[in-house]
Amino acid sequence: MKPIRVGLLGLGVVGSGVWTVLAQNRSEIARRAGRTIEVVAIAVRDTARARLLVGPDVRVTEDAMALVRDPDIDIIVELIGGETVARTCILEAIAQGKHVVTANKALLAAHGNEIFAAAHARGVMVGFEAAVAGGIPIIKAIREGLTANRIQWLVGIINGTTNFILSEMRSRGLPFEEVLAQAQRLGYAEADPTFDIEGVDAAHKLTLLASLAFGIPVQFDKAYIEGISHLASEDIVHAERLGYRIKLLGITRHRPDGIELRVHPALIPADCILANVEGAMNAVLVSGDAVGPTLYYGQGAGSLPTASSVVADLVDVTRLQMADPEHRVPHLAFQPDAMADIPVLDMADVRTGYYLRLRVDDQPGVLADLARLLSDAGISIGSMFQQPHGEHQADIIFLTHEAREGDVNRALALISDLPFVRSSVTRLRVEELN
Ligand code: NDP
Ligand code: HSE
Repeated sequence: MKPIRVGLLGLGVVGSGVWTVLAQNRSEIARRAGRTIEVVAIAVRDTARARLLVGPDVRVTEDAMALVRDPDIDIIVELIGGETVARTCILEAIAQGKHVVTANKALLAAHGNEIFAAAHARGVMVGFEAAVAGGIPIIKAIREGLTANRIQWLVGIINGTTNFILSEMRSRGLPFEEVLAQAQRLGYAEADPTFDIEGVDAAHKLTLLASLAFGIPVQFDKAYIEGISHLASEDIVHAERLGYRIKLLGITRHRPDGIELRVHPALIPADCILANVEGAMNAVLVSGDAVGPTLYYGQGAGSLPTASSVVADLVDVTRLQMADPEHRVPHLAFQPDAMADIPVLDMADVRTGYYLRLRVDDQPGVLADLARLLSDAGISIGSMFQQPHGEHQADIIFLTHEAREGDVNRALALISDLPFVRSSVTRLRVEELN
């Protein structure tokens, strides 16, 4: 059979990985796909640099749109990133009747509904396994492997950069900036690393996972997002002393009143599996009503791991392109006309445990006043400890039982106004994951 012809847009960290994997495992991939997968043209900005990598036999151009419109190309692989050129190219490729594979979670989180609707109308496939958790086949697992289940919740470490930073800060006592620079050198970080450290990249991925898990439209604008840039290293130390580790989590849960969709750092028990996912590794814990909890672990970023997912999509598209579009797996796991309109809950309505740290004057009545304000808001204290700070002040750390976030916010506003409180209150969520 004739090879399937691929146009590759972008030859950076992921694009070069795709080139390498397709060359390295060419015959193995062909045995699985039933045809050879051949990159026939590549679009980049710096064509001379690309030429050094791919040699003289492949067309290399600066004109991405020329590949998209080339009738000899069957599949467009978009690995440029961003929401401008990438979006135009993907929509035009779909309009041209070409299948698309992309790793671009930022684009899909913002424009996924438009892109999947266009692909459905045109009868083409958009593969995006690499957009979530790099090399872990989590999309395939949720979309196909767990298809018998009513999915209940999903918790993931889905940003390698922040997990790498938190791991190195904790285990080697290194400062935030030094570890971030290391992650950038290793190719984990996004072009704009604030996307990583402020939780935006994880929220892009979580938004896609929530849609796949619950059959809801992609709603990035409804996600609650908090990153790790405000984390103090003393909180990492206090957390350890209390038997927890701090991880940036993406959490989505189907509750009777709606869907939780949130990304934030959280204390999790040090002996649970997710707490021991270290470095740039990712892991996603998914619970279904029939199967119970299931865990997916692997490299969430980097050239070859991410390329592994891109190429898996290429093989799927190669196998399925002749199938009747109505009989393919739906892009978001549920049939487009069966998507549900379940509200995404406001963060104030989320219930979880809390870690609270504040500096106070060390004098009689302080603890009693703090406990009263927490109690008035319906918040129950699980444990606390006090650490002296100089002669007349102390840091107080509370762990609360599960409470409603809106109630915690109300109590913290009142606590901040107390005359003996000498710092802002650090508030981190605690997820027992049980
Ligand atoms: P890079 O910045 O390393 O590569 C981007 C590539 O796109 C470069 O080859 C660049 O060309 C090319 N490019 C940029 N603009 C244009 C344009 N206008 N026309 C043609 N080519 C262009 O990005 P990554 O490989 O890291 O990321 C690609 C995508 O994969 C992103 O969506 C990212 O979020 C996603 N992703 C990345 C992961 C990772 O580990 N890095 C993991 C999972 C997903 P030139 O080199 O000439 O400048
Ligand atoms: N910047 C992302 C991360 C790349 O650190 O996980 C993979 O999506």
